[in-house]
Amino acid sequence: MDAPAFLHPFTPPTRTEFITIVGGDGAVVWDDQGRRYIDGLASLWYVNVGHGRRELIDAIGAQASRLATYHTFDPFTNEPADRLAERIAAIAPMPDARVFFGNSGSEAVDTAMKLARLLHRLEGRPERQVIISREHGYHGTNYGGTSAQGLPLNREGWGPLVGEVINVPADNLEAVARVFSERAGEVAAVLTEPVQGAGGVFPPPEGYLEGLRRLCDRHGALLIMDEVITGFGRLGRWFGSEYYGVEPDLVTFAKAVTSGYVPLSGVIVGRRVRAALESDPEFMLRHGYTYSGHPLACAAGLANLDVHEAEGLVERAVHVGRRLSDGLQSLYADGMVSDVRGVGAVWAVGLPEGREAPEVRGRMIDRGVIVRPLGDSLAICPPLVIGDQQIDTIVDVLAEVLAD
Ligand SMILES: Cc1ncc(COP(=O)(O)O)c(C=O)c1O
Repeated sequence: MDAPAFLHPFTPPTRTEFITIVGGDGAVVWDDQGRRYIDGLASLWYVNVGHGRRELIDAIGAQASRLATYHTFDPFTNEPADRLAERIAAIAPMPDARVFFGNSGSEAVDTAMKLARLLHRLEGRPERQVIISREHGYHGTNYGGTSAQGLPLNREGWGPLVGEVINVPADNLEAVARVFSERAGEVAAVLTEPVQGAGGVFPPPEGYLEGLRRLCDRHGALLIMDEVITGFGRLGRWFGSEYYGVEPDLVTFAKAVTSGYVPLSGVIVGRRVRAALESDPEFMLRHGYTYSGHPLACAAGLANLDVHEAEGLVERAVHVGRRLSDGLQSLYADGMVSDVRGVGAVWAVGLPEGREAPEVRGRMIDRGVIVRPLGDSLAICPPLVIGDQQIDTIVDVLAEVLAD
């Protein structure tokens, strides 16, 4: 059979067989053959409120009837974008923040990298260009994020990448300190996820993020937290930065800001960058996207935050994570998995010798559970509305497949 017209992301272009998802409700999705699956990765780490939520669907529909679309370049704005920016600034992990909007996490990362370099130019230190990122980091697939990725396979083969982006060993503060001293006065920012997600689900070592903050402060650099997965409740706080008690200068977000119902991303801009941007009334921010602050996406974001608040989903992440990790730990205690790691409601297990992650994932799908293979591990990051029995089913199905 010929490959379909749709060229899929992160998929071999020769693949001809796909699972066609046609519907969803809560933590469950179903395909065109009527097979039902527990959505153990919340689609791609983002459907916090679950599928089929009337509150979001109605908010998007109502906004579409009022104003489906209008741009926000100078001098225009729209109400949902204004209101959502205020709501996000109010829960941001730093005071006095403003919010820039994009569409994808990759755009948010590009924006943050550009703003970091711009900040130093505005502060009169244009030589500060270096951006430090970490091995295992995943920052999306635009050229900025591709250059900052700590996953070599994703970086290779695309020609020259963005210059002056230095990737360091993941958990080694000294490696970061070395770059700061070798490139003294040239570092613009450190870019990190609070918990490395797509690179394998690796929480930071104790004190690591605080150490990055100290190094940045000592050397006048910015700390950019890439919270595309951890933002909006995944760790049991609105942001991972808050969970770890580290105040960033810039925060990227996407995914769960709308639970993915409409694509939306952005950057939360802290005091220092804000002050520089606002210091000269003649200054024009020459960066933005056609759909920055799109009214449908922002309406979805507002309804999504309402559901999070009404249902206590941020707190619920703690419960979901505990029940899930207890189950996974019991598999570890039985010697079925080699490793259990995670925090809040994002977890991964290392597979035993001889088991391949795509094969285990495939067998789990056959039994009605979707998880995601990452290297030699499987990631689990369910909707925050998932029920206890559904969590237990994810663990039970994993155990059954590993016992086969
Ligand atoms: C931490 C992080 N940054 C950036 C991205 C890129 O987001 P997008 O795929 O929406 O461009 C992702 C996607 O998973 C991510 O996890």
